Amino acid sequence: KRHVLDVEGWSREEILMLMEQARHMEDLMGRPIKKVPALRGKLAVNLFFENSTRTRVSFELAEKMLSADVVNWSSSGSSAAKGETLRDTAWTLEAMGADIVVIRHGAVGAAQYLAKKLKRAVVMNAGDGAHAHPTQCLLDLYTAWKHLGDLEGRKVAIVGDVEHSRVARSDVIGFKTMGCQVVLSGPSTLMPHQIGHLNVTYERDVRKALEGAHVIYLLRIQRERQRDGLFPSIDEYHRFWGATEELISSFSRDVLVMHPGPINRGVEIESSVADGENSVILEQVRSGVAVRMALLYLCAGGAA
Ligand code: CP
Repeated sequence: KRHVLDVEGWSREEILMLMEQARHMEDLMGRPIKKVPALRGKLAVNLFFENSTRTRVSFELAEKMLSADVVNWSSSGSSAAKGETLRDTAWTLEAMGADIVVIRHGAVGAAQYLAKKLKRAVVMNAGDGAHAHPTQCLLDLYTAWKHLGDLEGRKVAIVGDVEHSRVARSDVIGFKTMGCQVVLSGPSTLMPHQIGHLNVTYERDVRKALEGAHVIYLLRIQRERQRDGLFPSIDEYHRFWGATEELISSFSRDVLVMHPGPINRGVEIESSVADGENSVILEQVRSGVAVRMALLYLCAGGAA
């Protein structure tokens, strides 16, 4: 049994093996393959304490494609709203036969905590606070790998609200593990206080950060996690760091524009860029199903 809690600790070889497995989960058009019986008889519970569209739906699709029985649980309308603890909620669901628990929670470490408390279920972290979003990272690596092949030596510019982003933290680790050079850009107020341990560079000027980049990874400005009055305003952000057509077209014609979604059109990304020919944003979404199928198969399938 192997939980998926963080990409920290995954080797390059393990990530490549996962990507090869994900490729088997897609047809030649990049669509998920037809249903297979790999998880027949297993019960997957998707435990979402925070909102989600992409992660929740793609986990559900992946579980169903692998023939698992699926229960979707959300905190609103559950006994968590009456004060039941995370541990008791998870034990209750495990007592009803859960083999796989996918959890998204606002608290850092929630998935790790469940992995310790549950006796037999495999735990998949679908995002814990501003800490980690490993499955998003793996689908991002898979999308970039499908376009660029070997990622060794590629330059990845991550632009935006790094401070509040669990995706940024996981993607920095993931792209670095694959041998990429990673540069962060955005207002200094939206950068983590210390980035030295991340082994990346910070370039405030987005034009300098994007020079020579193979991947431009844009992050959502997480207004819900910011206190009022912080610099910059949304208008200022868009003016200095927003991905406009003019900005993107001044770099390589082949640069990949990525974003984990949901996007704020007109803030960190202009619609013409989000929907433009360099954008692989919807491909990321589609890759999410194959990558999550691969993870579920490897971690909770018959061979696990
Ligand atoms: N990228 C991502 O986690 O999107 P959702 O919040 O819609 O799941």
